[in-house]
Amino acid sequence: MADDASTLFDAARAEAHSTPLDKIDVSVQDRFVTDTFWPFFERLRREDPVHYCAESAFGPYWSITKFEDIITVETNHQVFSSEKAIGIYDPEEGDDFQMPMFIAMDPPKHDEQRKVIQPIVSSENLASFAPLIRSRAAKILDELPIGEPFDWVDRVSVELTTQMLATLFDFPFEERRKLTYWSDLATTDPSDPANYSEAIRAEFGDRPMTQEEGRAELMGCAFYFKNLWDQRATAAPANDLISLLAHGEATKDMPLMEFLGNVLLLIVGGNDTTRNSISGGLVALTENPDQLAKVRANPALIESMVPEIIRYQSPVAHMRRTAKADFQLGGKTIKAGDKVVMWYVSGNRDETAIENPNQFIVDRERPRHHVSFGFGIHRCVGMRLAEMQLRIVWEEILKRFPTIEIIDEPVRPKTCFLHAIRKLTVRIPERVSV
Ligand code: HEM
Repeated sequence: MADDASTLFDAARAEAHSTPLDKIDVSVQDRFVTDTFWPFFERLRREDPVHYCAESAFGPYWSITKFEDIITVETNHQVFSSEKAIGIYDPEEGDDFQMPMFIAMDPPKHDEQRKVIQPIVSSENLASFAPLIRSRAAKILDELPIGEPFDWVDRVSVELTTQMLATLFDFPFEERRKLTYWSDLATTDPSDPANYSEAIRAEFGDRPMTQEEGRAELMGCAFYFKNLWDQRATAAPANDLISLLAHGEATKDMPLMEFLGNVLLLIVGGNDTTRNSISGGLVALTENPDQLAKVRANPALIESMVPEIIRYQSPVAHMRRTAKADFQLGGKTIKAGDKVVMWYVSGNRDETAIENPNQFIVDRERPRHHVSFGFGIHRCVGMRLAEMQLRIVWEEILKRFPTIEIIDEPVRPKTCFLHAIRKLTVRIPERVSV
């Protein structure tokens, strides 16, 4: 950790311990920019693991901070509904720009729609993707500049995951950066240019986007995909996400906005999360040179390192549910209608569920014992695909580059929904031929 980062962290720790418990608000987004939210969760886990925050930028909410309590909420979808919203942010009352998507539905509709796209991650499909991912990873890595600074997020993490996404959708390959743009748009506050990604700057520019403009851009995404949908609906069923949705019994008659919602779910689900695991993995390995040395000495450890990266990074910071009935948890009564936020970033650092949770350990005994993919009926559809991409890209990285130097602090976006890295400037001194 650089000196500035360490000073910020010390200040956050002091604040976390001096704030009265009932005034702690873990959703403060500035702390996600500085990556200093950790001590607040540490205190809640110890002193008030099921915590009520009465006032925040997102209104009142409960925080679920311990591993086992998160599982309790996740597995009780009869009480904890996904329908109102899946993030801490509430849609405005009366706003008719709604995008239904199956992650934000309860059974039976959720289960029916999820089943339609499930074949995309069948074991046969995954096996057929593997050589493609490897050759793409090799090309991306072989084209990286040697000896000069570049942004790892853009050149490696975004590029690899966007190429994968183009394949999953059978999307025109040369236009794939549109997927990055729409994904970034769907997860960014459009009124704040300071928070724009390179993709948003390249496509839209640097000025604040009005709500109408942001929505018009997303409708552009809807119409682009509608066009692909129309082509696939009249062609024979194929094994890509759009064809699966266009031919699926439960999805073929979806209204346009529901189609857009599901497309955005698949774009963001398949893009941002894996992208941040690739970037976060590089940060974790750089900060833990002993662990990097272990995997370099024994590349078979990449298998357990991958889930450890996903746990340690926790790319989705939280998911939210809304209680449909009163529920007792950790000695508290959550009331019907309350907002309940499950903080995966905290559950994954729960000392009572995971040994030495703040350490990054590439050869953990149970590396998949984490909540980064959620649990229960909404557990991530793409988890095996994400793990496979990470495994392959790390195999190819370690073969080629004896060192990768991070030469600036990671730039993180202002959001408490994702634990993300927007920019990571690195320099690679040399490449070994493979
Ligand atoms: C490291 C990478 C990834 C992480 C950390 C991640 C994380 C998550 C999380 C936390 C959830 C919600 C779970 C819950 O509410 O219990 C989720 C759901 C989902 N993910 Fe992922 N994801 C990743 C990669 C992917 C990929 C590659 C895809 C696409 C192929 C994908 C597609 C989805 C979908 C469609 C859902 C909704 C599932 C449902 O509601 O039934 N994810 N993911």
